[in-house]
Amino acid sequence: MQAELNQLLTRVGPGTDCGALLRQYWQPVALLDEFDPRLDPRMAQRPLKALRILGQDLVLFRDQHGRHGLLDRDCPHRGADLAFARHEGDGVRCPFHGWKFDVAGTCLETPGEPKGSTLCRHVRQRSYPVLERSGVLFAWLGPEKGTPPVLPALDCFTAPPSHSFAFKGLWHCNWLQAVEVGIDPAHPSFLHRYLRDEDLQQAEADRSGKQFRAASVGSVAGERWPMTRVMREFCSPEIRFDSVGDGVVRLTTLRAIDDELMHVRITHSLFPHTFVIPLSPTLTITQMHVPVDDTHTYWWSFFTSFDAPLDRAAMREQRLQGVSLPDYLPRMGRHNDWGYDPEEQRTRTFLGMGEDDINRHDQWAVESMGAIQDRSREHLGTTDKVIMANRRLLRQAIDTVRAGGRAPLVLDAAAAAALRGPDTVDCIAPAQHWQAFSEAAMAAKRRAAPWLPPPVNAEAEATT
Ligand code: FES
Ligand SMILES: [Fe+2]
Repeated sequence: MQAELNQLLTRVGPGTDCGALLRQYWQPVALLDEFDPRLDPRMAQRPLKALRILGQDLVLFRDQHGRHGLLDRDCPHRGADLAFARHEGDGVRCPFHGWKFDVAGTCLETPGEPKGSTLCRHVRQRSYPVLERSGVLFAWLGPEKGTPPVLPALDCFTAPPSHSFAFKGLWHCNWLQAVEVGIDPAHPSFLHRYLRDEDLQQAEADRSGKQFRAASVGSVAGERWPMTRVMREFCSPEIRFDSVGDGVVRLTTLRAIDDELMHVRITHSLFPHTFVIPLSPTLTITQMHVPVDDTHTYWWSFFTSFDAPLDRAAMREQRLQGVSLPDYLPRMGRHNDWGYDPEEQRTRTFLGMGEDDINRHDQWAVESMGAIQDRSREHLGTTDKVIMANRRLLRQAIDTVRAGGRAPLVLDAAAAAALRGPDTVDCIAPAQHWQAFSEAAMAAKRRAAPWLPPPVNAEAEATT
């Protein structure tokens, strides 16, 4: 890749072309948990936090009515930092000269100005629309007079709170390399390889959501196989990808186990930075990679259960051990070699960076490339074809937005309501009928979900 193209695809700050594209979409900006005083005691007194996204500095606060406001961080008077504002219930007040703003950015007072001054009426702080889905606050940073798109009715946004859980964490790297690990179906056979499998019963009793430990749907000669075994023993998959909608790509990864059986893993990527993968037969993860700036990215994971309610407290507790609050910074990273243990690498895992949290494996992969991967030095192979296709799509979308057009998956209400799912499966299927088998497994999972309405006809069951 030419250095200029790498620059175009990776720079996201205000005024950049890729930044203009990403500003077309709702972006997750905070977990509701971040306003929970049990996790951040400061929130009991002052529910306000500074945040950075797409290279912009903002403040997010909750007012006394429970409304969230997302404002530019520099005070419109003379630019002091509103992260230090006084929270007064109905708005926030800049400590420099006392100007006060509500959640919409309306200036409520300029108390130092002469009596009768109308200055306040002419000043407004830029505010950004905020909405909540599945325990996460999303913001839209598009053009000031623009209309935000409608978030699609994905499973992760449709499931009730009892069946969903969200978490996030910071990676020290550019957003695109984070995305490119998610749409790389070849890497689990190596990066996430366990040299031995966990006891299946024990793995399935653990509902905290460890990836690849559960069994694939189906069996081999009557024996259920953990995903780890499939990934380890069949490491050169056939990868197919199909566009199944505007900006929606279905990835099908096939591993022939023998003449009779085919391992099938179906995942989806949704432009520009979301993908949906199966964690177990009844649990999916929807992951988004959202730029903080050019060299930092938050990953956001939405866990969605299609059967029993999730043990959200256990999932939270387990994941909090890996980060430090309030910013969800990983405890492991470049500063401590991501916990690398050569003995573990020799005897237990392919990578040697822990067995419990595969997220750390991905973190190493994306951070070790450097903050912004120099793609002029890479050599892509056949298994990188989805990555290549995604880069083409990204480049086209940048051009489309630059020309004033509509980017993929910037949806109106009708299109957003129509986009459902997407489905995922990890199964061992009869080699001759793997398509029908995997479709049936996905349909059965949807039918069993207590929070999805029963399909009224065959068409209603088809998802994107
Ligand atoms: S800089 Fe904020 S009130 Fe003056
Ligand atoms: Fe991974």
